[in-house]
Amino acid sequence: MSQNFDSVLNENRVFKPVPATALGFNRWHIDSLEEYKALHAFSINDPAGFWGAEAARLSWFRKWDTVLEWTAPDARWFVGGKLNACYNCVDRHVQAGHGEQTAIVWEGEPVAPRTSHAVAGSKYASEPEIRRLTYRDLQTQTSRLASALKSLGVKKGDVVTIYMPMVPELAIAILACARIGAAHSVIFGGFAPTAISERAIDAESRIIITADGGYRRGDIVPLQKNVEDALALLTNHGHIINHVLVLQRTGHEPPSKRFSTGDTRGSTVMHWWHDAVAQASDACPCVEMDSEDMLFLLYTSGSTGKPKGILHTTGGYLAFVQMTARLAFNLMPDAGQLFWCSADIGWVTGHSYVLYGILMNRVPTLMYEGAPNFPQNDRFWDIIERHRVTQFYTAPTAIRTFMKWGDDLPAKHDMSSLKLLGTVGEPINPEAWIWYQQHIGKGRCPIVDTYWQTETGGHIATPLPGAIPTKPGSCTLPMLGVDAAVVNEQGEVIPANSGGLFVIRKPWPGMLRGIYGNRERFISNYWGRIKDPKTKEPYYFSADGARRDEDGYFWIMGRVDDVIKVSGHLLGTMEVESALVSHPGVAEAAVVGVPHDVKGFAICAFVSLKTHWLKAHSRNPDDSLRQELKEHVAKEVGALARPEHIRFAEALPKTRSGKIMRRLLRDVANGVEKITQDTTTLEDFSVVARLRNDDE
Ligand code: WTA
Repeated sequence: MSQNFDSVLNENRVFKPVPATALGFNRWHIDSLEEYKALHAFSINDPAGFWGAEAARLSWFRKWDTVLEWTAPDARWFVGGKLNACYNCVDRHVQAGHGEQTAIVWEGEPVAPRTSHAVAGSKYASEPEIRRLTYRDLQTQTSRLASALKSLGVKKGDVVTIYMPMVPELAIAILACARIGAAHSVIFGGFAPTAISERAIDAESRIIITADGGYRRGDIVPLQKNVEDALALLTNHGHIINHVLVLQRTGHEPPSKRFSTGDTRGSTVMHWWHDAVAQASDACPCVEMDSEDMLFLLYTSGSTGKPKGILHTTGGYLAFVQMTARLAFNLMPDAGQLFWCSADIGWVTGHSYVLYGILMNRVPTLMYEGAPNFPQNDRFWDIIERHRVTQFYTAPTAIRTFMKWGDDLPAKHDMSSLKLLGTVGEPINPEAWIWYQQHIGKGRCPIVDTYWQTETGGHIATPLPGAIPTKPGSCTLPMLGVDAAVVNEQGEVIPANSGGLFVIRKPWPGMLRGIYGNRERFISNYWGRIKDPKTKEPYYFSADGARRDEDGYFWIMGRVDDVIKVSGHLLGTMEVESALVSHPGVAEAAVVGVPHDVKGFAICAFVSLKTHWLKAHSRNPDDSLRQELKEHVAKEVGALARPEHIRFAEALPKTRSGKIMRRLLRDVANGVEKITQDTTTLEDFSVVARLRNDDE
């Protein structure tokens, strides 16, 4: 197990909730443990009553007939109801007279002027670009883009691929899709062309929205170029993208490389965003969607094969996300709040808690385009100070990085506006939790450690800040309406403090409805392993190990499948292995995770090389080849997949049935088996393999 887990075993500090007014909140939505417990019991005993009341907080064109139809593993929530996601995030606020309120506050990354003059009194060479969009702005701009998409032939039910930087137009693109009933499939801007093409093929998507580039740590990420490279790959697969819509963000391409709207790349027509919306009508009503119509696909890594398109539908996702956002972050409109989630919208955290959950609650959401260390390591604290952020939500890996950068950076800034802090994405080690609480929250702000997954749509276990005492490193208790448990392989609840499997025993509205185009994988990944010991009804299995302590608090121990959380981002070992073996010199590769004090886990790849290739190219298994392989993976998958360590082996250790002995490799990588040092060029596993020739 990871270092994180060893330390959480000994953690027993408890932090009690404080009165809302002590923090400057008007009130807590739920303000005692008793109230939470009563509500949780009600939500489990009467799901129709509980979720009916939650769904009634949304605007429906037609009310549902039945709250839930459930034939495991298929749930239909708010059956017969009709609604629209964009309407719930934008239009209804305009109609209720809040059109002039701020919906999005956006800050761009660059702080150096393109023309050189310093701004008096600013620590930056020029003020960062800041844009504020009201609900009315969002209504107008999503309508225009939605009209433009319609004129390009996008219809209800189509999948629109979005590969963009963190700019307001990304939010507009997502909401415009929802407006006309097209599903969005957002691909994180750090992914490589292969990832774009794989996902577009799987989603049967015919249109891509992108930007010429995005700013990241002072550099330009060549998004349009990546899309054009993906187009070439797609053509080889016989998949045609009809249109690519490009937002001009960086304008970095020399004129010779630029296109004009209407130019083609193979069979694909290129359009500038500004041209497309210039002629588009801003009258574009939100279409009526069935509660169970697809809202979006979001690809996530699995333990085998290609990334899977997690499918979320409209009514259940919205009902769940508006509730979880409201309760975990104590969101209230008209209360001077400014919520900032630092995740990229390319991940589920950004979908649910940069956009949908926050906009539905009519609280302004802050979007920041760039890196935390540009131009200096205190950019986040600077943003919190200048914008007076009230709730801040980030990842443990970021917190550990901030710790490394030093206590003096947050100390330089006035962060007295903060009332609540959140974390997400991986287990947080108590040291990082305490540092966050002391140095960012100044000992004042409650911390909500929110455990959930792309598949769950929203928070599954988290402290509710006014009600649930916190323990550093624990995501505490289940969200209202969520029946979570830690069980053994037989589905039996196990005694307190023993390690087991994290399952959800009853359906919840935000649950995934499928893996796009792969029913079998949907069932085998999530529903095939653990059952109710009595009724034999399948449980949802999260693929996380966990324990529950004597207070019923959950302590997540991490993944039990072959995916690795690197800096909070899920990566399939298979994805990295396939990328490695696509290098002409690689015969075989096996990838395991090793604990890393900032990233949580890092990738260690064991690689056996083709001897004839080495000879033919006069290469050796040395550092230069290690470097080349690392770059190769970054190019094939994306920078976040770049292995930390490459270890060469003559052959990989296998069981008699030919399976790679991953557990052994994990032990070797973690230094448990002192077979060889990291510095030797070749590892010889033949001895161990002979010694341990048992099936894993
Ligand atoms: C892990 C991110 C411990 C877990 C929202 C899960 C966490 C996976 C936490 C999902 C947390 C997420 N404590 N572990 N608070 N939050 N995880 O799909 O292993 O990118 O299965 O969704 O992240 O990652 P995903």
